[in-house]
Amino acid sequence: MELRLAGKKAIVTGGTRGIGRAVVLGLARAGADVITCHRQEGEAADRLARELKELGGDHHVIKADIGRPEDIERLVEECRSRFGSLDVVVNNAGVISHIPFAELPLEEWRRVLDTNLTGTAFVVGGTLPLLTAGASVVNVGSRAATVGVPLRAHYTAAKAGLIGLTRSLAKELGPRGIRVNVVAPGPVETGGEIPAPVRERYRNLIALGRLGVSEEIANVVLFLASDLSSFVSGETIHVDGGI
Ligand SMILES: NC(=O)c1ccc[n+]([C@@H]2O[C@H](COP(=O)([O-])OP(=O)(O)OC[C@H]3O[C@@H](n4cnc5c(N)ncnc54)[C@H](OP(=O)(O)O)[C@@H]3O)[C@@H](O)[C@H]2O)c1
Repeated sequence: MELRLAGKKAIVTGGTRGIGRAVVLGLARAGADVITCHRQEGEAADRLARELKELGGDHHVIKADIGRPEDIERLVEECRSRFGSLDVVVNNAGVISHIPFAELPLEEWRRVLDTNLTGTAFVVGGTLPLLTAGASVVNVGSRAATVGVPLRAHYTAAKAGLIGLTRSLAKELGPRGIRVNVVAPGPVETGGEIPAPVRERYRNLIALGRLGVSEEIANVVLFLASDLSSFVSGETIHVDGGI
């Protein structure tokens, strides 16, 4: 089976590290042209730009914080001026923190909601005029949204919000042939340090007895981005090793 993404135009938010990086490289290897964004200058962004250049294609790594409406506008303008239209939108950028709900400051609630939920909504809103008939929007949620996790009420609220956003947009945009879905990862190794007791707890919780890797999430994003999933919309696909 072929993904047939060659020549497709894609945007992926938060593509310089972790899952987003695997999605960007997966799309580029499948022949799509990709615009991606990040917040911080540094080695991760430089390395991705180098790797994309080696792969060939029309790719762009842009500094834009999707928690800031003016940055979203600029990012959308880059998509419009460079690509003219979009076939794939992957809302991957996300932030998390671990704070007891009783101590959660309003600013932190806003930071996590602004990036994970509001940023996603307004990236979709901004790119709407560019979306082709048959375009696919993939929102990266979290298994935690439907499980619930202590110290992450703000994060799970944001990710649960993505499911409602996705259901409604699937219905509103379906008549244009646009599909909207959520990929909800379980625990994934993305290069950061995972304390041994946490790793052990996950091993016991997950049917496959291990954490996932970024490419295993990216593979499902690629499936949803491609026409292989042409009759899948409004869905949340959990990619969690059977947690
Ligand atoms: N890893 C997991 O176990 C897991 C599990 C469930 C769900 N998820 C979800 O999967 C997605 C990716 O997670 P990850 O673990 O791969 O994250 P990560 O390793 O922390 O990487 C996040 C990426 O997003 C970018 N980013 C963060 N905030 C941004 C913003 N406001 N504007 C633009 N770019 C931003 C980062 O760029 P900078 O470095 O420049 O900030 C980085 O490229 C998130 O939505 C996360 O909630 C992850």
